[in-house]
Amino acid sequence: KKLLILNGPNLNLMGEREPGVYGNESLDDINRQIEQKGKELGFECHFFQSNWEGAVIDQIHEARKEYAGIILNAGALTHYSYAVRDAIAAIHIPVVEVHCSNVHAREEFRHTSVISPVCAGSIVGFGKNSYLLALNAFEMLL
Ligand code: DQA
Repeated sequence: KKLLILNGPNLNLMGEREPGVYGNESLDDINRQIEQKGKELGFECHFFQSNWEGAVIDQIHEARKEYAGIILNAGALTHYSYAVRDAIAAIHIPVVEVHCSNVHAREEFRHTSVISPVCAGSIVGFGKNSYLLALNAFEMLL
């Protein structure tokens, strides 16, 4: 089964941006670990990152045709993008929301996720392991 690992704005700077919050590993490092664990669980993982809201939405639309599910870290779009929310609501494959940081322990504006209600579930606060745990979620879901 194919899974899309979709990362939104600023996640390309993982490892470099606010390392106290997001850790020292690059997105490529983390993606390799997702790919490895995914393989062990029988998933073929594909990866996409964009800083552009529309590109994230296009990928969500595209994914509905060829993927069994999406692991999505939408970055700050999580907190305000009704367009990303509507894209998720429009497709019929499950989306698992992930955040590396514990968004609930941070600034007020991060406490709201406009995408959570249309996602299968959310995993937040476990650093890169949030993505790896999302693979376990897909073991259950698919
Ligand atoms: C994030 C949390 C968001 O609030 C933030 O805008 C990000 C990263 C996380 O993975 O913890 O860019 O999604």
